[in-house]
Amino acid sequence: MENLPLAVELDEEIDRRLVPALKVHPNVIGMDETPRFAAGVADMDFKAPPAVLEAMSNRLDHGVFGYETVPDGLLRALTQWLRKRHGWSVDESHVLRAPNILNALAIAASLFTPEGDGVIVQPPVFFDFFDILGENNRAMVSNPLILNRGRYQMDFEDLELKASDPRVKMIYLCNHQNPVARVWGRDELQRLGDICNRYGVLVVSDEMHGDLAFSGHTYVPFTSLGAEFAANCITCLSPAKTFNIASCCCAFTVISDDVNRRAFQVENSRLTVNKNNAFANVAMEAAYSDGGPWLNAVLAYLETNVDLVRHLLKTVPGVDLIEPEGTFLLWLDFRQLGFRPDDLTVFLRDEAKWAVARGHAFGKEGAGFARLNIGCTHTRLEDALHQLVKAVAQFDGRSGGIPGR
Ligand SMILES: Cc1ncc(COP(=O)(O)O)c(C=O)c1O
Repeated sequence: MENLPLAVELDEEIDRRLVPALKVHPNVIGMDETPRFAAGVADMDFKAPPAVLEAMSNRLDHGVFGYETVPDGLLRALTQWLRKRHGWSVDESHVLRAPNILNALAIAASLFTPEGDGVIVQPPVFFDFFDILGENNRAMVSNPLILNRGRYQMDFEDLELKASDPRVKMIYLCNHQNPVARVWGRDELQRLGDICNRYGVLVVSDEMHGDLAFSGHTYVPFTSLGAEFAANCITCLSPAKTFNIASCCCAFTVISDDVNRRAFQVENSRLTVNKNNAFANVAMEAAYSDGGPWLNAVLAYLETNVDLVRHLLKTVPGVDLIEPEGTFLLWLDFRQLGFRPDDLTVFLRDEAKWAVARGHAFGKEGAGFARLNIGCTHTRLEDALHQLVKAVAQFDGRSGGIPGR
């Protein structure tokens, strides 16, 4: 990794309400006037890397925003990033653009599975996977993760069983896993890949969080496992989470198999989702070319935020942190407090003043958990944690002890 830049202003509090940010929309943080810790939507509160801001500002100065092609340097910047940062060699000609990751996931399901057939998901997992499958009339086949002594693992026996069903044609892999913050290891991915190859199940690997691995953990791009795995995979990539530019970028698919890639290309064209946005183009090229030092600083900042959570939760009986290995999303286990899922949401909203994502939205396996976004300043996070400490202490007092403890 490069050295940290001297001045990265991650401590700056930026008022997200000055733009129509989803994270602070009343639908998300509550319709009343109560100030809440906005930690539900998965973006960070930090300004984009200086290189991105400069490139966008220069593009604005140009003043003409007619139709554009893809800049020559964009795919080069992406593939160089993947090679230098992750040791993953990607052929530029295997990369297609997509408007966003969810669009690529939806196209993959509709293109490569017949209606009514099954797609495997591994809950707790990003809830939009469920919606995409429902809206595209594909059956969701659940292969839940197993929580084993505080760490989530894949259930390979169950995966094999599900994959062997001839009506199951695809799996949505979440690498790294939102919301449980697992950075999947080479062995785990290989075992999953072997099973999928054996039964002809196409792997659609959502690697949107891939760049965000903490110290001691390494991002393993699924297709980097080898040619036989790459041939059976559609990888979805995006700089949105990495550089906090979700509203001004697009996504990419990496498809090594010529037939699948051609089919995807034709579908993109049929749906006319192949237009270019001038700001997205320059933002992404600048991010991949020069965003490394900023990302290093952000990862270090996030790890300090994890330390803060770990430290403060030690004083909160009944609330456990599932140790994160990457992403800016933490998975908190409130099950010992004994709430029913909806009551936990109300408790967090009304007592702790937290607007976080409900655990059971990520599958029934998430009941009793909540997803906390730590992509914010240390100060904001610390204040929010103190609110939780107080709320749990009051709850404990009222309930005369924590059930199950
Ligand atoms: C794993 C994962 N995939 C996809 C998305 C959404 O991606 P996009 O906004 O590019 O559709 C998110 C956003 O939170 C995510 O966490």
